[in-house]
Amino acid sequence: MAEIQLLGMTHYPPFAGRDEFMSGIHHRMLADPDVPAEAKDPANWPADQQAEWGSDGGKASAPVHRAALIAGFDRVRAALERFDPEVVIVFGDDQYENFTEDLIPAYSVLAYPDRTVHPYRTRIGRAVPSYWADEPEDHAVTIKGRPDVARHIAGALLDRGFDIAYAYRPLHDEQLAHAFLNTVLFLDHRRGGFPWPMVPMPINCYGSKVIAAQGGWKPFGETLELDPPSPAPWRLMDLGGATARVLADSPWRVSIIASSSWSHAFLVDHQWRLRPDTPADRTLYEAMVAGDYDTWAKTTTDAVVHAGQQEVLNWFALLGAARELGAALSWSEFVETWIFNSNKVFAEWEPAR
Ligand SMILES: [Fe+2]
Repeated sequence: MAEIQLLGMTHYPPFAGRDEFMSGIHHRMLADPDVPAEAKDPANWPADQQAEWGSDGGKASAPVHRAALIAGFDRVRAALERFDPEVVIVFGDDQYENFTEDLIPAYSVLAYPDRTVHPYRTRIGRAVPSYWADEPEDHAVTIKGRPDVARHIAGALLDRGFDIAYAYRPLHDEQLAHAFLNTVLFLDHRRGGFPWPMVPMPINCYGSKVIAAQGGWKPFGETLELDPPSPAPWRLMDLGGATARVLADSPWRVSIIASSSWSHAFLVDHQWRLRPDTPADRTLYEAMVAGDYDTWAKTTTDAVVHAGQQEVLNWFALLGAARELGAALSWSEFVETWIFNSNKVFAEWEPAR
């Protein structure tokens, strides 16, 4: 039996850009001609949103948000260094990056060997100008793989009735979907290196919008032909639980990370995409802190979509792992924001087996 460490973090792409562009998604939402003028008027926004927006469109608030994220990344990084796993498993979304029209697996495991990728050649999160100002556009990062562990996960999950897809090489994304790439780049934001091999486990979080909106958004004026949904939240909790059990029964010392922000403003149509659904996030967060897994397991796909919490599905898998292992949450932080697209949560559980 091996010890398993559970961690949660964000892969928020604007972190990789400079502060003056951090509120860029909010500016793009404000530019949609079909968002009513009253909704766009800051005078009609919640007071906290007005304060964060300020008189400069969020420029002065960006360093504050960045500092909160750096504190979270440093804490998660320190936990990894302390535990020093043999392999890091990451639950992350694929936003029309590696998986597109020809194949959308509900969930999968990437049994990649060591690969050298180019962060500035990605479709999403190609932050130019970059926060890491001295990195050239052909900057390369080698991400170690553990195809043997990935094959074991696939085989053991199939044995348990989880019909998981697997891959030995990329389909469409010669780099790595940004949920996984940014996990490495952000946990290594001080650029000292990321020594641990990673096994990505992509989850189709975007469901009805994975192809229709290319894992993002389309202008309000465009009518979308919606795709089939994501896997159900409860099923992903079961998947995460089974993954954790399979690994706890393995010889390997493993960290499992859920990588994603919570409610995304650009997915919250009922608020004209101008702020995340913070009440919905707070409900899940309080349940997580209380160890109330039922609240998570009862959450429906419709509720997830309504709240723009598609990416939180990665965390449903993580919470399923915590439930299975009976792991105790040792630390968490809710980073609330109104104008930087998404609330972010960081979390660490005591290692469990
Ligand atoms: Fe994402």
